[in-house]
Formats: sequence, structure tokens, C-alpha cells
Amino acid sequence: MCLCAALWLNFTNSVNPVFVTAPNIDTIVSLAKRRGFVFPSSEIYGGLGSAWDYGPLGVELCNNVKQAWWRWLVYERDDIEGIDSSIILNRLVWKYSGHEATFNDWLVDCRKCKGRFRSDKIVENKCPSCGASDWTEARPFNTMLQTKLGAVADDDPTALAYLRPETAQGIFVNFLNVQTTMRRKLPFGIAQVGKSFRNEVTPGNFILRTREFEQMEMEYFVSPGAEHSKLVDYWVDQYLEWFSSLGINRENLYLYEVPQDELAHYSKRTVDIMYRYFPEREKPWEELMGIAWRTDFDLSIHSKNKLDAEGNRVNPDSTEDLSYFDEPTKQRFYPHVIEPAAGVNRTVLAVLMDAYSEKTNDKGETRVILKLSPQLAPIKAAILPLAKNKPEIVGMAKAIKRSLQPVLRAVYDDTGGIGKLYARQDEIGTPFCVTVDHQSLEDEAVTVRDRDTWEQERVKVSDLAEHLQKRLKPYPIGAPEVS
Ligand code: GAP
Repeated sequence: MCLCAALWLNFTNSVNPVFVTAPNIDTIVSLAKRRGFVFPSSEIYGGLGSAWDYGPLGVELCNNVKQAWWRWLVYERDDIEGIDSSIILNRLVWKYSGHEATFNDWLVDCRKCKGRFRSDKIVENKCPSCGASDWTEARPFNTMLQTKLGAVADDDPTALAYLRPETAQGIFVNFLNVQTTMRRKLPFGIAQVGKSFRNEVTPGNFILRTREFEQMEMEYFVSPGAEHSKLVDYWVDQYLEWFSSLGINRENLYLYEVPQDELAHYSKRTVDIMYRYFPEREKPWEELMGIAWRTDFDLSIHSKNKLDAEGNRVNPDSTEDLSYFDEPTKQRFYPHVIEPAAGVNRTVLAVLMDAYSEKTNDKGETRVILKLSPQLAPIKAAILPLAKNKPEIVGMAKAIKRSLQPVLRAVYDDTGGIGKLYARQDEIGTPFCVTVDHQSLEDEAVTVRDRDTWEQERVKVSDLAEHLQKRLKPYPIGAPEVS
């Protein structure tokens, strides 16, 4: 055994484990940058406040979260279809959805220091910059990000378009396309994952609030007579279970029943699932996702046949009626919608905070271990040669890496002693380290080390892929029938 391996074993033997979740977001910011998960965007020009770039491990983690979500809803259930709509939609979509008129933050200016703030974020009527209490009247600021389409003059109003502030509208305007082509009957859902944009007045807290972010939204269409409130509860429970399958501790989640006067214009009931993003603060909770009963607001408002109380068309621009004909009751109606809307970036942050743990040995040395659920880990197995100056060992390790690659994400690493290599993989959440040593050349077996227990077992190379795949199997989530 080389000296490094011996030192590492010594370390593990003397370890007195202390596991904690991340004490604050800054701990994750630093780990994320150090280990290639997330970098400040355009940093060489001083950065861009609220923009972040996902590095080699971050992009894998995000993809794994999105894939886990898609698999859970679109593949494992029988009642949900997927879609990928445009980011830039006809401007009329945003007129009728109500976003042009109401997607506002309310701003106030401090008359003393001229600072501008969201009025709902002012604490005790004091300016966060200078402490004064002399404010202008609050006025609305529409947070949809604008752009212009085509080679047009700067002041041509017809060229105005928006980058979508939610993925949901792309689902609503495609409701009939999906329902008819896939021959769907209620209840059924349409899921979409993709970028959304909001000109946030106060972005911040790392990837928690940014102007460009990703959403995983699902619109679940049901009849007007369904038990909508129960369905909201049903989807809350489903998501609590899904978050738990991602390794998020239930104790770090909290349900917030949004009061009537805070509901969005389309919602009759919304429950937010909050995560403990600020464990160090008196108010630790921030929204991870929301589950809203959007009524029939969106489908009816985008429909040409919807009439107001005076019998006038509500939407004279629409060329389609998005109603649904229910064969058993022979009735035509606008379906109601239950919408679970989650953020990819906020889910990734919650996953990282919950996975963060530290082990401290008797000497006070601390090691970081990212206990990511194996399905989310950017790298599933690291293949490490115990002696990098032995061509036979290196060759065998590289061949094992290549043989695993078709079934799982594996890497080869020989850039340090075995102790350092183990520590690096622990810190990025790799569930398994596979070590090739001198003995491997004779017995065609390798040592598989478990990230969480540090237990090691000897596995035949011919059984390795199956062995790892078995241990990586995602936690299954039930998908009970909905009526
Ligand atoms: N279609 C409904 C909708 O968009 P929302 O509560 O405004 O509802 C849903 O957004 C989720 O999108 C939020 O719970 C959050 O996870 C994510 N999200 C919203 N704004 C965000 C931002 N500025 N930065 C990062 N994530 C954001």
C-alpha cells in the first residue's frame, strides 16, 4: 500500500464524524466555485450582478435534476405529456394572460439617497441604504424583459416582444394541439422545462433570484367540477415526496398557504413549498416552488368564444377556442388547472445545501462530503489508479473507465495521491471511487469505496458495471391514480 493510502486510512480510522447541512448559502457559493459547479458570469469584466454560469459539474447536476423531474412526471406517470415551446411568443399572449398589465413589482425611491427599492421589501419604513424614511409614492414596474424582433427602428412599437416570464403560457396556447394529437381525456397534464426571464429589481442570494432562470412547470387540466383544493394538496404531497427522493430533508421544507390578498390574479389557491435557504437567519424560509389552482383563467382568456357579462368577446384577437368537449357528460367547458411550478436553480441550491456535510477528525481537520442522491451526482464513479507510474495499473484503470462510460458517467483521475483523490470526489458528491491496485492485475478485481460510509469492498471487474448500477438505482416514487 502506498503512503498516501495508508495516511488516508489513518484519517478515516481516527475520524469523529460531524455531519451538518450547509450553514449558509456562502458556503455553497465557495464550494461551487472551487469545484466547478457554478461560476460568477462574465467575471473577467467584473461580473453581472445576478448572472451565474454552470461549470462542468453544475451543468451535469442541473441536467440530472431536470431528467429526474421529466422521468418522474412524463415517463413514470401515464397522464402527463411533455412539450417545449418558444421563449418568445406573440405579444398578445402576454396581453391576454394579464402579464402586460399586472406582472409588476412596486417601486419606491428614497428622496434622500435616491436609492430605488421594492416597496414590499422595505423593513420598518427605513431606507436600506441611508436609513431615511422619506419615500416617493409606490409605482408599478413591469418585470417582463423586453426585446425587439427584426431589423426595425428603435422606436417601432410593433417590434416589441418579451422573453417569457413563465413557461406556463406556452403550455396553455398549445393545450388543444397536445390534447387532440395525443387523444387525451381529462384529467391530464402537460410538462415543460426551460428558461424564463424576469427583470428582477433586487436579484441576489446566488442562484436563488436571478433575471435568467429555469423553470419546471406542469399544468394539470381537470374538469370544473373536480375537487381543486384536494388536488392542490395532492400535488403538494407528490412534490414533498419527490424532493425527498432528491435527498432534501422534510425538516428543511415548510408549507406556506398564500393568503387571499397575496394571490396572483389567476389563482384561487396557492401553496408555496419553502426551503430553509437561510438557516443562519431568524427568517430562514424562501420559496422553492408554488402549487396553484389557476382555475380556468388561462384557457378561457385565450379563447375566441369566451364572452363577458355584457355578451362581448373577451378576446377578439384569438382565432381558437380552447374549450374541451367531455364525451361522458356531453358538456363543453374550459378545464381548470392545477399548476406545480418549480425552479431548477432553486432546486439545485436546495439539493446542494442539503447534501453538504462535514466530517472532522480528532485533529480538527475538516473534510467536506457532498451527500448527493446518486441519481443527481454529476459523476457516478471515479476510477483511480493506486500507482500512476505503473503503466499496467494505469492501462487497466483507463480501460475500466471506458467500459463503464456507456452505462454511467465515470471519470479517470490520477492527479494526486489516493487520499487527495478520495477527498476531491467526496467533495463533489461522487458516490463511488473504484481503485485499481497491484492486486487487481492478478485477481481482476478492484476496490469500490462508498462515499458516505467509506466502506470498501472488493468487486470483480466483470461484475463492476452491474454492481454499480444496482447501487445507483433511483429511489422509486409511487404515482397514485388521480380521479
Ligand atoms: N407559472 C407560475 C410561476 O411562474 P412563480 O412562483 O412566479 O410561478 C415559479 O415561479 C418558480 O420559479 C418559483 O417558485 C421559483 O422556484 C422559480 N423562480 C421564479 N422567479 C425566479 C427568479 N427570479 N430566479 C430564480 N428562480 C425563480
